[in-house]
Amino acid sequence: MQQVSGREELWSVTRRWKREGRVTALVPTMGNLHAGHLALVEAARKVADRIIASIYVNPTQFAAGEDFGRYPRTLQKDLEKLESAGCDLVFTPGDSTMYPFPEGEAVVVAAAPDLAGVLEGAHRPGHFDGVTTVVARLFNLVNPDIAVFGEKDYQQLLIIKRLVDDLGYPIHILPVPTVRECGGLAMSSRNQYLDTAQHDAAVALNRALRDTATAWKSGAPQSEAEKSGAAILEVAGFDVDYVAIRKATNLGMPEPGESGLRVLAAARLGQTRLIDNLPVN
Ligand code: PAF
Repeated sequence: MQQVSGREELWSVTRRWKREGRVTALVPTMGNLHAGHLALVEAARKVADRIIASIYVNPTQFAAGEDFGRYPRTLQKDLEKLESAGCDLVFTPGDSTMYPFPEGEAVVVAAAPDLAGVLEGAHRPGHFDGVTTVVARLFNLVNPDIAVFGEKDYQQLLIIKRLVDDLGYPIHILPVPTVRECGGLAMSSRNQYLDTAQHDAAVALNRALRDTATAWKSGAPQSEAEKSGAAILEVAGFDVDYVAIRKATNLGMPEPGESGLRVLAAARLGQTRLIDNLPVN
């Protein structure tokens, strides 16, 4: 497995692969890799000849006061995991490679407002513009045929699909189901901020999503179903940002009895903010 940090080094490899007719897949990450990330690499291996993982903790998707400074950086361990998972190339750009121009001069790619203004976007203003900006830059630099994203960040996945469809990137977006611990907690780098008691309590997030979906399917009005999920979270000690049933395609409000839905939630245990989602049907 090769590791490159500069644009020219990256291009010398990716150009050769293109000339050889290789199908390349990009797995964008912020590092601190866990089984959820490795599932993305595994999914990529099934559809591509060459796998490129990127590791970059993107400052523009964190607001002031969020966890950018303490986000876990574990490069050596990440490289070992990627090598074992069969990754071919790891792109580890520095800030000057990803953002050669300072704020105010740099191009910003705005996320589609209809998708980015709700749920996570309403609670983390500007977050998705940071995501689309860095993902567009990664797409431009790596020029992959396929890019792999986890369903754990479901709203991000929809926003990236829109980015690709609207701006015309010739890239296939491959979604991968969330990997969970045995209690149902979705794998996340932020789980390691939790102490033991909080980790035990955090399984309520998945339970709340399942309960909300069950309530909706048994005919409860949307607001009642969402409230039942929020109540489970509150009893477990969470401060709830939202529990929301939405259309899976565009996060619009569902009609009663509608199918093709997703239930999404975000809630805080102490200083740690967790998100998760499930298909309703
Ligand atoms: O999902 C993530 O880890 C990040 O948002 C991403 C897509 C790597 C962009 O920084």
